[in-house]
Amino acid sequence: MIRVGVNGYGTIGKRVADAVAAQPDMEVVGVAKTQPNFEAHTAVERGYSMYAAIPERAPLFGDAGIDVAGVVDELVADADVMVDCTPSGIGAENRSLYTSYDTPAIFQGGEGSEVAQVSFNARSNYDDARGADTVRVVSCNTTGLSRLVAPLDEEYGVEKVRATLVRRGGDPSQNSRGPINDILPDPISIPSHHGPDVKTIFPDLAIDTMGLKVPATLMHVHALNVTLESDVTAAHVRQLLEGESRVYVIPEGLGLDGAGKLKDFALDAGRPRGDLWENCVWGESIAVEGRDLYLFQAIHQESDVIPENVDAIRAMTESADAEESIARTNETLGIGLAGDPTGFNDSERVGVETADD
Ligand SMILES: NC(=O)c1ccc[n+]([C@@H]2O[C@H](COP(=O)([O-])OP(=O)(O)OC[C@H]3O[C@@H](n4cnc5c(N)ncnc54)[C@H](OP(=O)(O)O)[C@@H]3O)[C@@H](O)[C@H]2O)c1
Repeated sequence: MIRVGVNGYGTIGKRVADAVAAQPDMEVVGVAKTQPNFEAHTAVERGYSMYAAIPERAPLFGDAGIDVAGVVDELVADADVMVDCTPSGIGAENRSLYTSYDTPAIFQGGEGSEVAQVSFNARSNYDDARGADTVRVVSCNTTGLSRLVAPLDEEYGVEKVRATLVRRGGDPSQNSRGPINDILPDPISIPSHHGPDVKTIFPDLAIDTMGLKVPATLMHVHALNVTLESDVTAAHVRQLLEGESRVYVIPEGLGLDGAGKLKDFALDAGRPRGDLWENCVWGESIAVEGRDLYLFQAIHQESDVIPENVDAIRAMTESADAEESIARTNETLGIGLAGDPTGFNDSERVGVETADD
């Protein structure tokens, strides 16, 4: 059993803990937080041992009725792998804590690439993380782009990627973020930082990205134009993407016309927290003009990196190869929406919009 500690139990940390707990070859040794808020109570209810991320705050947990198993140093000492899920920038500060106990550590995409030996996406460069002491699971957007680039590059060769990322202003619980009523080029300068981040996975890739932020919390939406190195058809690209386990090609006729309905769909399907671990590519949007491929995809920022963290743990501990790990993670989490999983595919009943709309 690989003993995993999770430092930071927020949006990403709580999902990582649950995903690790679902693995037959892993266990959660404990989770660390700075304060005994509702998430701390949830963690304890789920059976995770609670550690104080800031030792002086340990008594606050006791005051709130939460038994503390120890301080974060003890968790780090006890774990085979630490997954750092603290807010951007704190992970880099925690790096010396993990190295001082010789505990391999995974960092998240909010950290710069220099925080770790390897930037990681399971589909694209699993083997680069084999046996590594430090790995950074790239951001939600970079994960979403990498999962598309990998098969396209392998199958057709990629000459150039141009992506416009329409990003959610904040996660549903981030009530201090915005915009509330605006559409922000973000960053205003072009290209955005996302392209260089994708290059931490594909160093030779030609990619330019532009970013916006909009008043939404549910998902990001990417508009992609990829110039391929060989002639293709839209049908062939679609078939290729349908063969990718972490890409859901949204079938026509389900009425899944936006992020809101996708989230509803995930909740109706009984997904925990309404999570969509897969890239959601609109099948109808896949279009080809010469060697230029166009498509839209939605990315659930809170959850697409979760299976990647699980695979990163196996890569670092060299306990499975890429194919084995991805398959096990997919199976245990229930990843892989294919075709019409509801069996409900009647375009008249779901009211598909016609072309004049
Ligand atoms: N949310 C996303 O959409 C998303 C997607 C992909 C990647 N990421 C990346 O994942 C990382 C975590 O983001 P998040 O969205 O999960 O943040 P979050 O929701 O704010 O959660 C961070 C957690 O860390 C805890 N924390 C704060 N300071 C800490 C410290 N010094 N030591 C230990 N725990 C501490 C907070 O707990 P307390 O309440 O106890 O302070 C909170 O539970 C970031 O690098 C982010 O860029 C986020």
